[in-house]
Amino acid sequence: MCGIVGVLGEHEAAPLLVESLKRLEYRGYDSAGIATVDKGRLGRRRAVGKLVNLSDRLVHEPLTGKAGIGHTRWATHGAPNENNAHPHSTRQVAVVHNGIIENYRELREELAAKGIGYETDTDTETVALLTQAYLDEGQSPREAALSTVSRLTGAYALCFLFEGEEDLLIAARQGSPLAIGYGSGEMFVGSDAIALAPLTDQITYLEEGDFAFVTRTQVEILDAARRPANREIKTVEIETGQIDKGGYKHFMSKEIAEQPRVLTEVIGYYLSDDATRINLPENGFDFKTIDRLTMVACGTAFYACLTAKYWFEQIAGMPVEVDIASEFRYREPPITERTAALFVSQSGETADTLAALRYCEGKADSILSVVNVPTSSIARESNLALPIMAGPEIGVASTKAFTCQLTVLYLMALKAAHDKGRLSDTELADRLSELRSLPSAVNAALALDKSLAHAGLKLSEAQDVLFLGRGLMYPLALEGALKLKEISYIHAEAYASGELKHGPIALIDKSMPVVVKAPRDALFEKTVSNMQEVMARDGKVILITDAAGAAEAGDEAWITIVMPTAPAALTPILYAIPAQLLAYHTAVAKGTDVDQPRNLAKSVTVE
Ligand code: F6R
Repeated sequence: MCGIVGVLGEHEAAPLLVESLKRLEYRGYDSAGIATVDKGRLGRRRAVGKLVNLSDRLVHEPLTGKAGIGHTRWATHGAPNENNAHPHSTRQVAVVHNGIIENYRELREELAAKGIGYETDTDTETVALLTQAYLDEGQSPREAALSTVSRLTGAYALCFLFEGEEDLLIAARQGSPLAIGYGSGEMFVGSDAIALAPLTDQITYLEEGDFAFVTRTQVEILDAARRPANREIKTVEIETGQIDKGGYKHFMSKEIAEQPRVLTEVIGYYLSDDATRINLPENGFDFKTIDRLTMVACGTAFYACLTAKYWFEQIAGMPVEVDIASEFRYREPPITERTAALFVSQSGETADTLAALRYCEGKADSILSVVNVPTSSIARESNLALPIMAGPEIGVASTKAFTCQLTVLYLMALKAAHDKGRLSDTELADRLSELRSLPSAVNAALALDKSLAHAGLKLSEAQDVLFLGRGLMYPLALEGALKLKEISYIHAEAYASGELKHGPIALIDKSMPVVVKAPRDALFEKTVSNMQEVMARDGKVILITDAAGAAEAGDEAWITIVMPTAPAALTPILYAIPAQLLAYHTAVAKGTDVDQPRNLAKSVTVE
């Protein structure tokens, strides 16, 4: 949520800043801006909307200088216009910020009392004004930045650039991620390693409360107590190919297509050499000492947790609670002994999920996480972080991360069941053998692209769409509705099929497409009855089922998509594919911005 970057380079900074911002645009695209310092003078260019608008402006109004900062914004305080775009600057300082300064009103009043006015609606401008006020009192840039940061409450990753200082960036982290990148004779700051990937693979992740003074030759880091801190420099492997579209029209379609490969990788990562056992990283965590699981996440990751609840309960016999992260800690749920708290997050930086994790620290027996970014805050603050190995996911709508999360959660449920003696060695080996054939079923589901494109074209005319599913297909219905609304902007709702008659059936008429997910499983007949109820009221059903289901349901549905067959427990992973493709094709038919849908950002680092 907002991407920030800083460069102390050997060459002109503006092109490097724009290139890095391109890699951060997934974090927000309401506006973008850069500031540089050249011959001692601060300069700034900003533009509303996508980064391309800033690039265009820079063609006509170039900005010189080898030191600079940049920002791509997801608006929190203040409308997405140029005036509110970062960097925010005064005479002597420019600042980029990711996060929310919670006490900005109070600070503004304090500044106003000194006759200092503000020009934007943002919380970030306060940081620049406050720093300027400290500079005016005679403090050095270093002192002024330290004084300012000590006054801030809330979440921030900040990068400061000063008039007259061509070899200094100051970075501060509290609640929002920030990394320092080491080049040779150059130094960089970025929201994540992806931003810095073309510039360097030598990265230090700042920790909570850290403050860094960066010059071209050295980085001095102070911890939250302002003591000198040594932070490890890690070599981060990000292939640049992982972050381009690789010939696909959209990142989302590339990421959907990658699923057979990434699923094969993640399954292989967790299986023993003979593929009959599950190896979780050794860290002393033992399912035998755990009686309950509390799972917490947001959005798509929350739906992965809802699915996993069925697996843990049915296969491992473990009671599971699943919570939306933004609700969890405010409810102050008691965490009983022998409870493991499990957090699922693609980015590993979602503010609400991280806050929920911190709520559980010292209360839960263990803090577990399932993450895509192993260096993320959530991973680092967990007792055991299980990687999902999906690789960078750039499309804002989560696709491959969802199926990889499901796969890891399924493996965890099997491991729990085996450790607790509810699955024999043979049963476990059989389940794993089924799982190993899942990527080829996913491949077969991807081959339904044309039929789903046809269905997507039809759906693109709808105002509202209903998704129905029972059992394991209920969370998938929720995920299908979320995917559709976020990228096509069509209003979509999902219900457990059995809930239909308790209210939502009133919505059904001939203009209402209803997507029914129903593999031929133990609940199939019940779902088909619900589907009949929809059709009896002229609702147009898109039935997604397997061959046996299609044969039994007949040809009454408006559209039937015939999926490959899979063992019942694995259908959520498989049926994620048509959910993704249906949303994708609907969005393409509507001409929306698939990879960067309006109002959204990939990594939600504010509450
Ligand atoms: C939807 C989507 C979001 C995320 C949610 C959590 O397609 O991507 O709903 O799933 O914002 O993000 P992470 O997994 O990064 O915590």
